[in-house]
Amino acid sequence: MSFREIVSNPKLKYLFFGGKGGVGKTVVAAGAAYYISEALGRRVLLSSTNPVHSLSSCFGRDYWGRGVCHVDGTKNLDVIEIDTTKTVEKYKESVRNKIMNFLKTAGITTDPEPFIEAATTNPAFEEAAMFDEMVNILLSERYDAYVFDTAPVAHTYRLLGMSKVYDLWLRKMIKSREEALSTRLKLSFRKERIIEEIKKDPLLLETLETRKRTEEAKRLLTDREKTAFFFVTLPLALPIAVIERFIGWVRTFEIPVGGVIMNCVIPEEAVKASTSPYIVNKLREQAHYIQDACNRFPGMICAYVPLFETEVRDLQMISRVAEALAK
Ligand SMILES: Nc1ncnc2c1ncn2[C@@H]1O[C@H](COP(=O)(O)OP(=O)(O)OP(=O)(O)O)[C@@H](O)[C@H]1O
Ligand SMILES: [Mg+2]
Repeated sequence: MSFREIVSNPKLKYLFFGGKGGVGKTVVAAGAAYYISEALGRRVLLSSTNPVHSLSSCFGRDYWGRGVCHVDGTKNLDVIEIDTTKTVEKYKESVRNKIMNFLKTAGITTDPEPFIEAATTNPAFEEAAMFDEMVNILLSERYDAYVFDTAPVAHTYRLLGMSKVYDLWLRKMIKSREEALSTRLKLSFRKERIIEEIKKDPLLLETLETRKRTEEAKRLLTDREKTAFFFVTLPLALPIAVIERFIGWVRTFEIPVGGVIMNCVIPEEAVKASTSPYIVNKLREQAHYIQDACNRFPGMICAYVPLFETEVRDLQMISRVAEALAK
């Protein structure tokens, strides 16, 4: 199926673009968001959780850390470029509160700092924080389509892989919390007050909320009708190998794969007259890797985007990416 056919499905609401660093995920996501909003007339939010200001540079505007911004010159396209540092700080604070709350409710009086340190300095913390922010956006329900410029493939993979264990753990937490509270209820003479307390128990509410969000995220990410992960590659060995691994991962958990997008394809007609051995060799190499990708991902290449004469730095260039995607 072509990219145009895939996105013409009005139910498709969440689009993710994954791939090796620097292959053009941001550019392709911007082109896709532009196409869906301008050509299909849907309200679209394009969001980036990238630490470098790549969306801004791709649109030639400053969207960094400014919240949701409307893209001038479009009818229905908004963008948000999330400030990683702020998001991580905010998430750290919420984890800190959770731990403090937990220790207080459980009546533990040890120093909370080592627990907080352990929870917030592990290598996946930043990714977890960005993932949490992404889930906030996903669940906001204000747009017809949400386009994410960098798919959190590794995190999604871990989340879904861990979800059984995680769910078991959450269930245990909830059960033991309910038991602890009901023991108090049995011993108490003022039952109404204790029932009120159960309803308001911060630890129980927190745990239930976490479970609800995890389940919602899981449901969304694996919904065939609403979600598609696209994988961007160049006609080169390494980016192809990276997406092959990603596709293997996401398939394990039945995350719907939209297709593969081949970016930066040298347009043969533009260099046809050239006899330069450099160009001839580049074209031969390109043809080899495109064939290789066709063999590895049968029927999955849904669009080819040419290598433009310049970088993608404004809306006009983004509209050319959109045009290529829609061919
Ligand atoms: N088809 C293209 N033609 C010309 N330049 C392109 C094309 N696609 C991407 N670029 C340029 O390549 C650079 C990298 O693209 P982009 O930022 O979209 O990659 P990325 O995969 O999002 O990178 P990162 O992994 O850092 O997020 C940018 O300067 C962009 O303008
Ligand atoms: Mg990027």
